Amino acid sequence: MDKERKLIIAGNWKCNKTVAESLALVADLRRELAAVKEVDVVVCPAFTALESVSKAILDSNIRLGAQNMGDNGYGAFTGEIAPGMLKEFSVGYVILGHSERRQFQKESDALIARKAAAAHGANLIPIVCVGETLAEREAGITNPVVETQIKGSLAGLSAEQVERTVIAYEPVWAIGTGKTATSAQAQEVHAFIRGVLVGLHGDAVARRVRIQYGGSVKPNNARELMSQPDVDGALVGGASLEVRSFADIVKNSI
Ligand code: 13P
Repeated sequence: MDKERKLIIAGNWKCNKTVAESLALVADLRRELAAVKEVDVVVCPAFTALESVSKAILDSNIRLGAQNMGDNGYGAFTGEIAPGMLKEFSVGYVILGHSERRQFQKESDALIARKAAAAHGANLIPIVCVGETLAEREAGITNPVVETQIKGSLAGLSAEQVERTVIAYEPVWAIGTGKTATSAQAQEVHAFIRGVLVGLHGDAVARRVRIQYGGSVKPNNARELMSQPDVDGALVGGASLEVRSFADIVKNSI
């Protein structure tokens, strides 16, 4: 597939898998995806599996991501993980502001912006998640909701930092429900997000930002979604937990 930006497909394993299970999955993925060069492939295991997975993907084309991070550095922040701790395990990406954290941990756009700044400060690439709920979509306020999230979650970042940020558009109603946004619905919001980025930092920056789609991405809908001009990859939940489906999503996107 000829794309303006290199696709980035990340597996968000969420709160799943023991260390042994994580190792088994990446060993299979290494084999299945060894020849893939056209797509940046990222796996995001639980914190407890980062060290083992990091060693298991050495010298491979698979990159490592974390699912969250504290907004401070080292210090008296019980239960938090500092950006520098992730760097110890060669983590390159960190998912921030996933809708599950926005919902269950009440993460605000302002907190996500602080985390995004901390990530860039440590040379980690943040994957900043946005997306509307079903009620918001039905009320016809998808665009303003997403615009507020984008502006709030990227507040204070420089143009260079925004350019290196990955955005994940994940409509909440499509996560884990089997209800995928149609490729047209996804493209519409992705184009809208890119327009918001143009307003913030100009056309050249906006054109370089990769915007992933997330929400019930499966092998049978990946190609259609990835073929949309402003869809630059996928953030995959359920289907990333199994080698066959994740590898097929990557292969079907090329
Ligand atoms: P599903 O692919 O399970 O719908 O999850 C999407 C998601 O939340 C990825 O971050």
